[in-house]
Amino acid sequence: MTETSGITLRSGTAADADAVRLLGDISFGMLSDPVESERAHRLFALENGIVAQDGDRIVGYTAAYQQTLTVPGGHPVEVESIANVAVAPTHRRRGILRAMYTEQHRRTEARGLPLTVFTASQGGIYGRFGYGPSICQQHIRFDRRFVQFHSDTPDPGGVELTSIDEAQRIVPPIYDLWRRVQPGAQLRPEPAWEAMFADHPRFRGGGTELFALTHPDGYALYRYHRRESGSALEVVELRAITPDAHAALWRALSALELFDHIEAVIAPDDPLPYLFTDPRLVHTTGLGDALWSRIMDVPAALTARSYDADLDIVVAVHDPFRAAGGVFALRVREGRAECAPTTREADVELGIDVLGSVYLGAHRIRRIAAAHRIRAKDPAVLRDLDLAFRSDRDPVLGWAF
Ligand SMILES: CC(C)(COP(=O)(O)OP(=O)(O)OC[C@H]1O[C@@H](n2cnc3c(N)ncnc32)[C@H](O)[C@@H]1OP(=O)(O)O)[C@@H](O)C(=O)NCCC(=O)NCCS
Repeated sequence: MTETSGITLRSGTAADADAVRLLGDISFGMLSDPVESERAHRLFALENGIVAQDGDRIVGYTAAYQQTLTVPGGHPVEVESIANVAVAPTHRRRGILRAMYTEQHRRTEARGLPLTVFTASQGGIYGRFGYGPSICQQHIRFDRRFVQFHSDTPDPGGVELTSIDEAQRIVPPIYDLWRRVQPGAQLRPEPAWEAMFADHPRFRGGGTELFALTHPDGYALYRYHRRESGSALEVVELRAITPDAHAALWRALSALELFDHIEAVIAPDDPLPYLFTDPRLVHTTGLGDALWSRIMDVPAALTARSYDADLDIVVAVHDPFRAAGGVFALRVREGRAECAPTTREADVELGIDVLGSVYLGAHRIRRIAAAHRIRAKDPAVLRDLDLAFRSDRDPVLGWAF
């Protein structure tokens, strides 16, 4: 138990379920139901969460769950995930989030996990705690009626019309193969699949139930929207292990001709626009971040991923929130790193939030350096770092939590 200005922090218990649910419903403006809450607590167990209490009232909550995330090079890493963070509107801006995060990060450090991740509701809060946006996503829309596939685009076929019942059996093993090679993707446990296929009307955005197309190396889960402004097909999740599966699924979706537009969320490096004769067809309607990451242990995190180029540098990492910063010698040979504290003078310095941003390969070192968030006296150091931290594919969040 921890005390903070009349507020007590403690681990959650099963008896807190109703109060935690009410706090979440009011904070996020969405009514959940007991079945969903029970499912969520099978992953994010109340006992792993932190409850903030004022007298006998629960006024803050943060949930935590350890999951397996793929980092560049296809290496699985055990990370802490935080979710459902909420403070009662009657108790905001008096340090309850800060107190819960301090306690949460102390627990994560004690468990020896190198990274903490979450999906953020707002962008201005979490930098102070050492988090940086670490996966980018692009919202796109195109007019399906004008799609013409390029003559070079393969037409490999292999797509099957699949009922949602069948999809529940077919899709998870394909996802599992995909997430093992895809940076940013996580192992997806049973309750997360149940939530996806439960397809609660609240998460349909006014659209139909889910439909599925499958391929031996991929799948698309999608729904239809019949709006006054026109009809659209929303791709909820498309995963392709091979370029052929990618092309085949987009060909099949684009042939669903009773719907004018197709909307999807893709990685910035998704090859979709190159499939079409007119690449201008694909409009970006929004850019966002899918995940935020905080490095908890610099040597453990930096030695867990692979790199694209050799390095021999000394990095100074500033941590405003915990004591994970310091000066580290980073040496990379044949893709793998050695990293240890050093007393040598630093070649480059950056905040731990920036290290979190570049860790999965979503953000380029050079671009952040141009904003003075990474500083080096010798421009060659930035060039080397930029080359090394690149990843051969943009990270993608496997499932939102
Ligand atoms: C976001 C939320 C958890 C903040 O809780 P809180 O107890 O009011 O936050 P704290 O008082 O501990 O603030 C911690 C720091 O974050 C800052 N902060 C808090 N909310 C902020 C916001 N919306 N925008 C920018 N800064 C914010 C505070 O100024 C404070 O800064 P400091 O410690 O450096 O001085 C709370 O407002 C909430 O529940 N919001 C609705 C649900 C939500 O968005 N949850 C987050 C899901 S990722």
